[in-house]
Amino acid sequence: MKLQSRVAIVTGGGKGIGREICLGLSKQGAKIVIAELDIENSNKVIEEIKDSGSEAIAIKTDISNENSVKNLIFETIKKFNKIDILINNAGIRHVKKLDDHNLNDWNDMLSVNLTGPYICCKAVIPEMKKVGKGKIINFGSIASFMGRPDRVGYVAAKSGVLGLTRALAIDLKGTNINVNTICPGLISTPFNKKYAEDPTHGEKWGKETIVGRWGLPSDIVGAAIFLSSDDSDFINGSEIKIDGGWLAAKTREGEVE
Ligand SMILES: NC(=O)c1ccc[n+]([C@@H]2O[C@H](COP(=O)([O-])OP(=O)(O)OC[C@H]3O[C@@H](n4cnc5c(N)ncnc54)[C@H](O)[C@@H]3O)[C@@H](O)[C@H]2O)c1
Repeated sequence: MKLQSRVAIVTGGGKGIGREICLGLSKQGAKIVIAELDIENSNKVIEEIKDSGSEAIAIKTDISNENSVKNLIFETIKKFNKIDILINNAGIRHVKKLDDHNLNDWNDMLSVNLTGPYICCKAVIPEMKKVGKGKIINFGSIASFMGRPDRVGYVAAKSGVLGLTRALAIDLKGTNINVNTICPGLISTPFNKKYAEDPTHGEKWGKETIVGRWGLPSDIVGAAIFLSSDDSDFINGSEIKIDGGWLAAKTREGEVE
């Protein structure tokens, strides 16, 4: 097992990609702390983890609130004595026409998707320094690389996550703490349910990727385990796109026989 006895905080681990990462990391021997607004779903994930013989707790946390994150660290240390891994997965998205996208929407997007990861990073770094090693994995998106319609706050925040990752990686030089970003493409989770299940667009959008389908939360888990493990010690300040090749190549209609 690649993560035996490591302690991992997974923000937004109650459902979607975060849930699957909790299950995947625990199968590699990690002890899991789910930092979530949604404790009901988190408790279900904890039961699944316990069934597979690993340990897990959930701590009600709003990642955009510094005091809430301080409590998360306090409770994690009280239970498990250390922090080795932070998976900064929690995120939200408003999709609104630019005319309707107001300052509240913008602030929401920035506070949960960019300031939240910053707060969580700052809070775990002193604990990782005590351990002498650490792995931080932030969550970007395909929206970290290109404009997407009706998502001005989301695109700005997810682009910022790449900058946050790079800036932290260099500021942490010499600490043995690696900071990287996972950038998912279309992944069928509650976050994207209405698009994945849309009878007109759902299947068509999947086929726009080189792989030819929507991603599943399980498609993200291998990279999360890899970036959490010693196997990725030489990867720092970097990002992995997990998008079925969507950002890599586009075909124009009529271009291919
Ligand atoms: N699903 C996709 O297609 C996709 C694509 C690109 C990027 N992403 C990114 O991947 C990450 C996970 O996405 P998902 O699809 O699994 O989302 P999801 O909506 O299925 O789950 C997100 C979880 O985060 C929690 N959360 C939200 N705000 C929080 C806060 N302030 N504090 C603590 N927890 C909070 C929610 O309760 C929820 O359980 C997000 O950062 C998202 O931006 C997802």
